[in-house]
Amino acid sequence: MTPFDNFLAKHDEEAWSATLTTLLRSIHEVDQNATQIWFAFYPLALFQALQQSPDPETLRQQLLMQGAYYLKDQIDSSHTFLYGHRYWPEVKKAVEQHAREFGSAAPLADQILTVAEQVARQVKTDKSLTVGITAVAFMTIQQAGFEAFENAAGKMLIDAGHARKSPEQVLRERAKDDSQGLLGFLRTVNKKWTVTFDENDDRATYRMNHVQDLAWGAADDRSRNWREIDPRRVEGPIPVECRSASCGTCWVGVLGGAEKLSDVAAREGKKIKEFGYIDTTEPKPLIRLACQAQTHGAVSIVIPPWNGVFGKYLKGLKNNP
Ligand code: FES
Repeated sequence: MTPFDNFLAKHDEEAWSATLTTLLRSIHEVDQNATQIWFAFYPLALFQALQQSPDPETLRQQLLMQGAYYLKDQIDSSHTFLYGHRYWPEVKKAVEQHAREFGSAAPLADQILTVAEQVARQVKTDKSLTVGITAVAFMTIQQAGFEAFENAAGKMLIDAGHARKSPEQVLRERAKDDSQGLLGFLRTVNKKWTVTFDENDDRATYRMNHVQDLAWGAADDRSRNWREIDPRRVEGPIPVECRSASCGTCWVGVLGGAEKLSDVAAREGKKIKEFGYIDTTEPKPLIRLACQAQTHGAVSIVIPPWNGVFGKYLKGLKNNP
């Protein structure tokens, strides 16, 4: 463990949550949701529970975990949905240098802001575009360890065409709704909406009917061999099992258009807390169960590479450490 690893290890989920709240004020609108979604996708408390367990394999089975949940296996790729990902090579190098020369007593949020500012100067962009991705780099070191972080290639993984888009262009595309054609305003049941599930891939969209749930709409998409890409994707791009808020397989993050989804109903709200994905009473949060959220407009979502059921387990650990 390096001194920087030791410094990070002093921060638990609550400390990170306070840090994120502080940082959000400095994060550009284009990455506000994305950064919060990323932190929901890689919960520190779950990682620590697995790390500290005397028998992680049994615990993984108990928590029904499937897919790629370890950050050490996706150091360069877990954050491609952040706008700031395009600065990843520079962010990674700057965070490594910060870690190697570590001697700071400054709070976590201040250290992240300092590194983000250095990178922004170097790549000649606004600091608000590098803060979210720098926070991601710090958390990735905390979960993967400095050595694994340093050994990752540090590559930007999106193509040049998408990397060239301005933050304003990305926000405009997210806000766009499908035209329903001439007299479309008269339509009620026949409206169709586009769901984008990877903003960096022009083919990663599917169309669905008004007030259909996100998972149902995805099931009609047979454009690729989804199962080959991820064995959890048995039907379309969104992994599903039960379609009734019972298994937790279909969780997604909502980058844009959360307000166009139906309010969280009682069952989704109760179950999503039990699964452990989000603990909120907001009617339109950034994390949803795709089999429950019905759409009333075009939305942009992110599909996490894993799923599990750990909410009750982590609550139990908190109450009986
Ligand atoms: S498919 Fe099981 S919770 Fe949505």
